[in-house]
Amino acid sequence: MMTEHVLTATNIDKSFALDDSSIDVLRDISLHVNPGEFVAIMGKSGSGKSTLLSLLAGLDQPTTGSVVLNGEDLTAMTEEDLALKRQSDIGFVFQSFHLIPTLTVQENVEFPLSIARERHPERVDRLINAVELGHRRNSFPHQLSGGEKQRTAIARALVAQPKILFADEPTGNLDEKNASQVMDLLLDLQKVFNTALVIVTHDPGLAKMADRTITIVDGRLV
Ligand SMILES: Nc1ncnc2c1ncn2[C@@H]1O[C@H](COP(=O)(O)OP(=O)(O)O)[C@@H](O)[C@H]1O
Ligand SMILES: [Mg+2]
Repeated sequence: MMTEHVLTATNIDKSFALDDSSIDVLRDISLHVNPGEFVAIMGKSGSGKSTLLSLLAGLDQPTTGSVVLNGEDLTAMTEEDLALKRQSDIGFVFQSFHLIPTLTVQENVEFPLSIARERHPERVDRLINAVELGHRRNSFPHQLSGGEKQRTAIARALVAQPKILFADEPTGNLDEKNASQVMDLLLDLQKVFNTALVIVTHDPGLAKMADRTITIVDGRLV
């Protein structure tokens, strides 16, 4: 029996309109991700990694091609349905954290659940403790270090128990010590929750730990 892919992208192109021309950023990209798989995306700056990740995660739409996540075609969904899906089925960790500044650590972690009108206090607690922020649950983002911010973002990304988690250079703004703590936590939790993980990274050591590495050159997979 064939395992169902958690994510399948087929023949994706992405171009952006400029004043009176357009720029082709991604060309004919097809890929899949298996349940629980850890995939690393590598490539030079400007090669299209962030653009690809945002299409795979439903943060933006491809110009042509399809992205099917858990059997649903993201490219055929309304922006409203897509927004709900991003909170319930997809986790995303950004290089620059993207926490909500007016919410505490705990409220940031609870946020995706509140959108879905759900409450899972035990899961929230467990995640906050797993990222070692039990003592900072009532702090606001501006009171946290970079590592603490990213640990909050990881707990938030996993709280709805998504089947897939995307991370775009999640340690890019952290020093070496915090970077390795954040990565260790991310990989531990990915296994505990059996979440597929697609991560953009420049770290060859991390790519070696991945089940599979995908390299992108000038908008194409090689
Ligand atoms: N919204 C946009 N409008 C125009 N060009 C863009 C936009 N987003 C990205 N690009 C261009 O697409 C290319 C790839 O960008 P990006 O995906 O951020 O690369 P990477 O993450 O690999 O560094 C770059 O040339 C960038 O300037
Ligand atoms: Mg990028």
